Amino acid sequence: MPTTQFRTSNGSLNQVDHDLRYTYKSFEKMPVRIWGSSDECSDNIARSIALAIRQKQQDNQSIVLGLATGSTPTKVYDALVRMHNEEGLSFHNVVTFNLDEYYTMRPESVHSYVHFMNEYLFNHIDIPKENIHIPDGTIDMDDISNFCSNYEKAIKVAGGIDIQILGIGRTGHIGFNEPGSWETSETRLVKLDNITRQDALADFNLSENVPVHAITMGIKTILKAKKIFLLAWGGHKASILKQAVEGPITSAIPASFLQMHSNIQVHSDAAGTAELTRKKTPWLVGMTNWNSDLICKAVVWLSQKLNKPILKLTGEDYNENGLSELILEYDSAYEINLQIFNRLQHTITGWPGGKPDADDSNRPERAEPGKKRVVIFSPHPDDDVISMGGTLLRLVDQGHDVHVAYQTSGNIAVHDHDALRFAEFTKDFLAQLNVPDDVFAKEYERIHNFLKKKKVGDTDMSEIASIKGLIRKGEASSAARFCGVPDENIYFLNMPFYETGSVRKQEISEDDIQIIKNLLTEVKPHQVYAAGDLADPHDTHRKCLNAVMQSLSELTEEDWIGDCWLWLYRGAWHEWRIDEIQMAVPLSPTELMKKRQAIFMHQSQKDKPPFPGSDEREFWQRAEERNRLMAKHYNELGLAEYEAIEAFRRYDFQSGPID
Ligand code: F6R
Repeated sequence: MPTTQFRTSNGSLNQVDHDLRYTYKSFEKMPVRIWGSSDECSDNIARSIALAIRQKQQDNQSIVLGLATGSTPTKVYDALVRMHNEEGLSFHNVVTFNLDEYYTMRPESVHSYVHFMNEYLFNHIDIPKENIHIPDGTIDMDDISNFCSNYEKAIKVAGGIDIQILGIGRTGHIGFNEPGSWETSETRLVKLDNITRQDALADFNLSENVPVHAITMGIKTILKAKKIFLLAWGGHKASILKQAVEGPITSAIPASFLQMHSNIQVHSDAAGTAELTRKKTPWLVGMTNWNSDLICKAVVWLSQKLNKPILKLTGEDYNENGLSELILEYDSAYEINLQIFNRLQHTITGWPGGKPDADDSNRPERAEPGKKRVVIFSPHPDDDVISMGGTLLRLVDQGHDVHVAYQTSGNIAVHDHDALRFAEFTKDFLAQLNVPDDVFAKEYERIHNFLKKKKVGDTDMSEIASIKGLIRKGEASSAARFCGVPDENIYFLNMPFYETGSVRKQEISEDDIQIIKNLLTEVKPHQVYAAGDLADPHDTHRKCLNAVMQSLSELTEEDWIGDCWLWLYRGAWHEWRIDEIQMAVPLSPTELMKKRQAIFMHQSQKDKPPFPGSDEREFWQRAEERNRLMAKHYNELGLAEYEAIEAFRRYDFQSGPID
């Protein structure tokens, strides 16, 4: 019988072994492989494509690849380019057909899939130009149907697609086959789903700019490929991936048609597969290797499923919902209920920095030292207050030495009209001070002219980028000051990886890491808070977290590091599951209002920020609703009723990556 040891909710939980030895796949209707990281998987996919290319070369044959755009396949393309440069992989025998293109779309536009493919792949390899096929986004409406049937014919003449790469959209689309697309569909003009258009906003800045139509290969076209790789990374794909893999075949989830293909492979990561039954509720699939975290997950799940507080769950409830193994092990539901109830109870604290002089054996944080040095890392200039504004206020009120470090300038998320307003203010203010006219007036003219001519997707001139960065800096300073953080404890790190002027960022470099290390060694914190919000669509949070993790792991020789605890919070896009939480900080109605005021300091992000993501609500609304919902969840499990809760998970940075 597997061991079922409970542990308290203090730091020792970080050592939990997440490996589930007994996993079965009975709910899955397509083969799914779960990878440790998208990098590792993309390398492997690229290797198998390279192998296929080389095999065809040996037989003097060409190979036909079906290609996708979007964030999913980029690492596969990077790996192919690397193999071309370093291992002599040639693409002279490769013919490609892209899945889709926006309509209408000029190929020269930075938003075109022609531009995307050139940037990520074609410009860097030796593929003959005539072998590249991408639907033409400039074709006349009258000629579209002809164009589409010719696209189908061209695929056939080329011998059919040997390997098709696919991503999956949040609507369940493959290519741009949105819900409603049938298995008999071929290349055609389609209307984009509203969710797809919202997701595309990240690239187009304004919703008016996002095309309404696209030309896409059909489901039938895709299913004719000899081999298909469907890739999906990250938590924002988890729910749709589950529906595609485990749900019925339905035109409501076009990716579910892939279940009909005899040579399909699904590749994903831990976050992307989190909703699969074998991961989410493994006890429903087969024998389970129970540990304390998994028991907690199961009990919370049962309580939520039955809508019953934990302490009211009965043996029957356990037996009837696939959890009889637990009852066999523990004899009674009462014993399990009590332990999990206590575990959750112990996550709740009004003392996020630890309660001085109190018994801390059942508290999330250490009592000593009573006054802690705290560094809060905020990826963008407003993540600190949005995600943990209430906790920040408490830490300051309770006398800790709180430092806030804004990791990136956040300059791309400021509207042009705001930048112009501030430039005008500077010009007028200098004039009022009788500073000679031409000092800033000429600069202002240049800025004004640039913005007048600026087209969608144009990168800002450096002066405008810096005005935008300064706007966000001023807002962040005001918000941190409002929370009581002293000026000398507010840092703007301006990490270089972010400064590309566009949504696509660079990889984290040594310079980025050094900046974080310098701050950490200067402050020597007892607590570090960082955004563990890995679903950020722009990848900035992920990179910022990696930089913090890497910096901490490179500082393990420092004498203070043994006393340094890392707490992860989640931001505007994502929330912890209850069983993952190790510290829950309740907020009173007054504290919640104060947090709202701090978020309001970020005026450039109010009403309609340039990058709102797919959520219509403003950031303060999302934060409040999320914090209130968390309190409601705790209450429904049978714990005390609070107005709102901010939640954290402790991460042991010395013991490896988060699952
Ligand atoms: C791209 C395409 C789409 C994407 C899907 C996922 O050519 O046809 O189906 O694969 O929208 O997009 P990302 O990868 O950006 O999440």
